[in-house]
Amino acid sequence: MRDSVSHPALAQWMQETQAIVEHALEAVLPAADVIPTRLHEAMRYAVLGGGKRVRPLLVFAAGEAFGAPRARLERAAAAVELIHAYSLVHDDMPCMDDDVLRRGKPTVHVQYDDATALLVGDALQSLAFDCLAHAGGEPASTLAMLQRLATASGSSGMAGGQAIDLASVGVKLGADELEAMHRLKTGALLSAAVMLGGLASGDLSIEARAALESYAAAVGLAFQVVDDILDVETDTATLGKTAGKDAQQDKPTYVSTLGLAASKELAERLRRKAHEALAPLAGRALRLAELADLIVLRKH
Ligand code: IPE
Ligand code: IPE
Ligand code: MG
Ligand code: MG
Ligand code: MG
Repeated sequence: MRDSVSHPALAQWMQETQAIVEHALEAVLPAADVIPTRLHEAMRYAVLGGGKRVRPLLVFAAGEAFGAPRARLERAAAAVELIHAYSLVHDDMPCMDDDVLRRGKPTVHVQYDDATALLVGDALQSLAFDCLAHAGGEPASTLAMLQRLATASGSSGMAGGQAIDLASVGVKLGADELEAMHRLKTGALLSAAVMLGGLASGDLSIEARAALESYAAAVGLAFQVVDDILDVETDTATLGKTAGKDAQQDKPTYVSTLGLAASKELAERLRRKAHEALAPLAGRALRLAELADLIVLRKH
């Protein structure tokens, strides 16, 4: 994603933050020589050394805007990324999207086997909550973060959206149904990333919370709209995952429902909506504004 970053200060902040997050993930994952070694090796394979780390960047951008302690942001960012990595491992399995390539490498079930991929997802999910439970600071704010992550991951969030996605193969969804599916399967976890960052400060006003929620809803939906567009417009090598899969599997997407041009217009409208939502936060929200641009203008 770095190639789409023109602002040098942003590029440097991203690099530094991604390095911090990589280190935090490395530290929280069990070592590959700890029994059961094959499972631990596969968990590390699924998480480390790949991905754009957009959700951790959102955690840090929101957290830094409200002065959250870095140690808490590291934990929150790692937790969200662990849930995301788990969702990708399961999303790629033969019983779901049946994909062989992820982050430029063979998917976990291809590199290992189906049962290992299933367990990797299970174990990453548990690890995410363990990681966040040890975020330190005010217990009440950690509890709020745990609750938000749990809701965003479960049947009212990511897992629920994935269920609708699977039930919708070959189905023509209306625009409202499509939006609801995307908000659950992808929007919920991106929104949680933003809100965990804010909550980590332990000190969010009602106004700030509302502004962050509104920003998070816009970028959360925009992220999946752009993912649908990239599936059509970008090649496999650039994506690091197989291009053209949505049409091949007859998934309802923004492109199949609205067409390419209208999908791009929607992504642009959501980008502007995200910027507008940040207005009450004035100068605090520079990084969040930049990340909204990045999410919509990214090339992979
Ligand atoms: C892909 O997410 C899956 C979706 C929810 C659209 P990302 O595009 O963030 O994937 P990585 O983490 O960079 O590999
Ligand atoms: C994934 O949506 C949403 C998840 C919760 C993982 P996709 O199925 O479109 O994600 P990609 O395109 O495989 O990354
Ligand atoms: Mg999928
Ligand atoms: Mg998929
Ligand atoms: Mg996709």
